[in-house]
Order: sequence, then C-alpha cells, then structure tokens
Amino acid sequence: MFRRLALACAALLSVVSAQLTITSPGTNDWWVASSQNTISWTCTTSTFLNFTILLSNSNTAVLAAPLAIIAVQENYDCSKTITQQQSAQPAGTGYTVLFASTLNSTDIYAQSQPFEIKALGSSYPTTTSGVGGTSTGTPSGSAGAAQATKTGGTLAEYVPVGMSMVAALALGLVVA
Ligand SMILES: *[C@@H]1O[C@H](CO)[C@@H](O)[C@H](O)[C@H]1NC(C)=O
Ligand SMILES: *[C@@H]1O[C@H](CO)[C@@H](O)[C@H](O)[C@H]1NC(C)=O
Repeated sequence: MFRRLALACAALLSVVSAQLTITSPGTNDWWVASSQNTISWTCTTSTFLNFTILLSNSNTAVLAAPLAIIAVQENYDCSKTITQQQSAQPAGTGYTVLFASTLNSTDIYAQSQPFEIKALGSSYPTTTSGVGGTSTGTPSGSAGAAQATKTGGTLAEYVPVGMSMVAALALGLVVA
C-alpha cells in the first residue's frame, strides 16, 4: 500500500518536474531572517544522490558569491530545515537557493525561484503553517492575526499549499 502511494506520488511529482526542482523557498514562499526556514525539493524525481546547498543573491552587494550553507545534503531527505545560524542573512529580495555538485560548486543542478528573506519577527508564509496544523514558531501579533483571519484568495495562492502537501507526503513515505 505504501509502495502504491509512493508510486502515485512519484507520478504526480513527475508531472510537475521530470527532474530535480527546488519547490521551496520561492516567489510566494519567503524565509524569515535569523529563524528556522525550510528547503524542499522533488527528491523522488532527482537523478542526483547528494548535493551542496548554496544561497545566492542577484545583488553582489548583498552576497558577493554564493554561500554554501550545507556542504553535503543527501537527496533522500526531501526537505531540510536550516538553523538560525545558517539563515542569518540580511533581510532582502533577490535570493535564490542553488543545489550544486559537492565536488564542484559551480556545477549547478537546480536553482530555486527568487525569494525574499523577511525581517526577523515577520510571519511565515501561510503555505508553511497551513499544512502542519500546528503553529510552532509562528509569531503572534498583528501580522499573525491578520494571516489567521485571511479568507478566500486566488487559486494561485493555494497551489503552493498542495505542492507542500505532496512534498510532505513523499517525505513521510520515505521516512516510513
Ligand atoms: C554523493 O553521490 C555520489 C554519486 O553521485 C557518490 O559517488 C558520493 O560518494 C556521494 N558523496 C557522499 C558524501 O555521500
Ligand atoms: C566545474 O563545473 C563547471 C560548470 O559545469 C565547469 O565549467 C568547470 O570546468 C568544472 N570545474 C572542474 C574543476 O571540473
């Protein structure tokens, strides 16, 4: 049964991408500075067993060169929560996450959509809090309240939620 589910997941993901795609962070899936943030990828369709994870910015005044935040990441983990120290980059836009060869970090396997790192204390994207149901680490206050009462929205806003659930399901199956 798990096997059949895993195959269904793999099939679903392969529609999204035939290869290695970084599904989070992205345009609507920002990080919060000096906080815990998540990187997710399409591990079931990846042809790479491991990679180095780097953080880059289109503005060389922000980051002169891509910064390695994880030296060797195994593909089968499917997602990774990075620590406060690893995401202690200044708030700003134009960031991307890069997956590269562990032997040659200029050999790029995949690149995320550009994303924003918001200031410390900002609320996380609804895609993060919406999946788990728990609110661990979700900041309270006006921003959090505004997010909690938000209803409706466009279809595009809900697509990343579905993507995250698929990724979470795939992760659960791999761990099981
Ligand atoms: C990473 O994967 C390659 C195969 O693509 C393998 O040869 C190498 O030993 C792996 N490195 C680590 C650190 O697991
Ligand atoms: C590293 O990868 C880049 C891009 O694929 C390539 O141009 C370069 O020759 C590689 N360097 C080495 C030392 O293999």
